[in-house]
Amino acid sequence: MKNTVVTFREAKQKGEKLTMLTAYDYSTAKLIDEAGVNSILVGDSLGNVILGYEDTISVTMEDMIHHGAAVSRGAKNALVVIDMPFMSYQTSVYDAVVNAGRLMKEGRAGAVKLEGGAEVCPQIQAITAAGIPVVAHLGLTPQSINAFGGFKVQGKSEEAARKLIEDAKAVEEAGAFAVVLECVPAKLAELVTKEVQIPTIGIGAGNVCDGQVLVYQDMLGMFSDFTPKFVKRFANVGEVMKAAFENYCKEVQTGEFPAKEHEYAIADDVIEKLY
Ligand code: KIV
Repeated sequence: MKNTVVTFREAKQKGEKLTMLTAYDYSTAKLIDEAGVNSILVGDSLGNVILGYEDTISVTMEDMIHHGAAVSRGAKNALVVIDMPFMSYQTSVYDAVVNAGRLMKEGRAGAVKLEGGAEVCPQIQAITAAGIPVVAHLGLTPQSINAFGGFKVQGKSEEAARKLIEDAKAVEEAGAFAVVLECVPAKLAELVTKEVQIPTIGIGAGNVCDGQVLVYQDMLGMFSDFTPKFVKRFANVGEVMKAAFENYCKEVQTGEFPAKEHEYAIADDVIEKLY
């Protein structure tokens, strides 16, 4: 069944956990979709895991549209959420609406996600008023990595924890239909989850959140540049891939591959005429 913002709302009301994974291409999106995951996030984490950047700062609207459209073609039932990249919405409410519109029209997103709390509420309000569903993102917001001074757990002091709760209420009030909580203490995430009516989607925020999200390369062991504490490896696909690549090299070098069954035939009399 097609997942929509209504699925998210009803899941919270019924106490059913929501599942979200990232994807950046058609084939992976199709597999995730077929596995029954509620939502696919085309995260700007593609800067790290697909494009090999150190952070998400350099990711462009064109990157997000290109990968978002591929994912949308592969996702039949999952709700596709596309991240708004750095500086596509911070600059003005006008830019935010225009760029969110592009992610819908060209990337075929079902919703967009943007980072920040009270400071981006005018943008959330305007985007939702344009008929585009918005997921908010609080806690460790990677686009602000330079302001945070590194990847650190957020909301640990009383002041920071209060601000996080207020921000969650503010983004809900502004119209966000869900909020991602990244790298925040589990007990704080639990409090936020109780304080807002919209679903909280945790990543490094404990298991009381209304749903969970992970970067698929992390959960499959395909990305080794850094692995946050909150990642659980559900399979070692990276090792399987590497072994297969090594095997391929060996078989090509020894002539074992391609074998007879991988060849195309031609009639002998045709070949004989060519000699
Ligand atoms: O870009 C991304 O993948 C994200 C998740 C980590 C939530 O924003």
